[in-house]
Amino acid sequence: MDDFESKVRDALANPQNQGELADADAVGTVGSPDCGDMLRMWLKFTEKDGKRVIDRASFQAFGCQTAIAVASMATELLKGKTAEEARELSASELTGDLGPLPPMKIHCGQLVEGALKSALDQTPAAPAPPHPPPCPPV
Ligand code: FES
Ligand code: FES
Repeated sequence: MDDFESKVRDALANPQNQGELADADAVGTVGSPDCGDMLRMWLKFTEKDGKRVIDRASFQAFGCQTAIAVASMATELLKGKTAEEARELSASELTGDLGPLPPMKIHCGQLVEGALKSALDQTPAAPAPPHPPPCPPV
């Protein structure tokens, strides 16, 4: 078994963040025209140090073992990132230690990237900061 296959097998032995996030702020779904597989990703944001960052991310993958392994890795990497930082991540960065993916599996990483971008597109803008207390009468 080559190095890539053993890394995928290890990731599948203990996949992280699988399943729907009931209280998610955003969800994105994409399918791969290359293989017909589908991936859905949920994002939950929180406020940290004055920034709105991803608190939790989760996924469901239909069909593809490599996409499950990459999504498990990616949903861990996303924690603590702002929406802007998450949007900058390429498929190969989201693949983390599993990469580089073999040529036949590049589109599995792109599937994860696509689901993330789709979820980010659905992410509502940060709520407006509270209005300051009314000015005192002059
Ligand atoms: Fe299709 Fe992996 S084989 S997403
Ligand atoms: Fe809103 Fe003064 S700016 S009450």
